[in-house]
Amino acid sequence: MTRRADLANDVAEVLLTEAEITARVQELGRRISEDYAGRELTLVSVLKGSLPFMADLMREIAIPVQIDLMEVSSYGGTATENTGLVRILKDLSSNIDGRDVLVVEDIIDTGLTLNYLMRYLRGKNPASLRICTLLDKPARRLVEIPVDYVGFTIPDRFVIGYGLDYGEIYRNLRFVGVLRPEVYADQG
Ligand code: IMP
Repeated sequence: MTRRADLANDVAEVLLTEAEITARVQELGRRISEDYAGRELTLVSVLKGSLPFMADLMREIAIPVQIDLMEVSSYGGTATENTGLVRILKDLSSNIDGRDVLVVEDIIDTGLTLNYLMRYLRGKNPASLRICTLLDKPARRLVEIPVDYVGFTIPDRFVIGYGLDYGEIYRNLRFVGVLRPEVYADQG
């Protein structure tokens, strides 16, 4: 992949600005703090895409939280296509037995990744298990997932930025956007 001088030049359209994301994350943090008032929460971030969201969201939560990180990847498929077979690259490092657990995701697309992950986490016997996703793309859902907290519902477009990548690039953009078609064409 060629190195780009300025990542923002590859962006055709900004879907969510930094200010919009910040305001929404604050709101989610407030709601989560209210819903779990008087309890302790374990936030489980699903790497790598949810990293900026997790970092921002945890600082908007007023109750005591512990954090843990998991990394999963789908077998095969391309960057824009999910086969539904999930592999755990990094497992939890803490015991979630009897804990209130909130999974922090970047985006739910087909739902296959999270469907697998929820079954896996349920097997570890948490007191409660809920989902908070920054983005929801319901148009492409293949399995029904009960999502408790949604930042933004977006149309069926491949998005990058604020953690989300195309070919591992663009995660460090402060906004969520759509790439220019030439960028995909360049990389075949
Ligand atoms: P799902 O299993 O189809 O719900 O896919 C979830 C994962 O696919 C996300 O955690 C992302 O890593 C990736 N993904 C899905 N849609 C997009 C997108 O529009 N941009 C970047 N990554 C995406």
